[in-house]
Amino acid sequence: MSSRLPGITTQYEWRDCYSVGNAIIDQQHKKMLLLCAESEKCLKSAGPESCEKFHDLLNEMAVCAREHFAKEEELLLARHYPMLAEHAEEHERFQTALVDFLVSAVQGEQDKTGVFRFLSEWWIHHILVSDLDCKPYFEES
Ligand SMILES: [Fe+2]
Ligand SMILES: [Fe+2]
Repeated sequence: MSSRLPGITTQYEWRDCYSVGNAIIDQQHKKMLLLCAESEKCLKSAGPESCEKFHDLLNEMAVCAREHFAKEEELLLARHYPMLAEHAEEHERFQTALVDFLVSAVQGEQDKTGVFRFLSEWWIHHILVSDLDCKPYFEES
């Protein structure tokens, strides 16, 4: 696997094996990976515009993540997923981290590479590990 930035994965390019068998959830995951890819582009440019763009991407991610987690939790609740509380807690921890990043961005103290690494690794883990575990509960009949 190639990586254009040292130590940063490019796994956030969508692959069919990431599918959880649910069109809405897959679409939302694709959007999240796209936001990670856009964030990576921001890392390559310096200056105030790229900081502003990075902040906009974080805001967009916060909005999309809220909607996405709500959809997942709705499905998992309806289908009686036994680990729902733990899964929802993972979602909650992500939202808290994202709010912290947004606050530090407003205060002008953002480590964009660190934030990007956290976000892209979080989404890969979320999609490939946590959500794939729930696949039987997400799949459309
Ligand atoms: Fe997800
Ligand atoms: Fe999830």
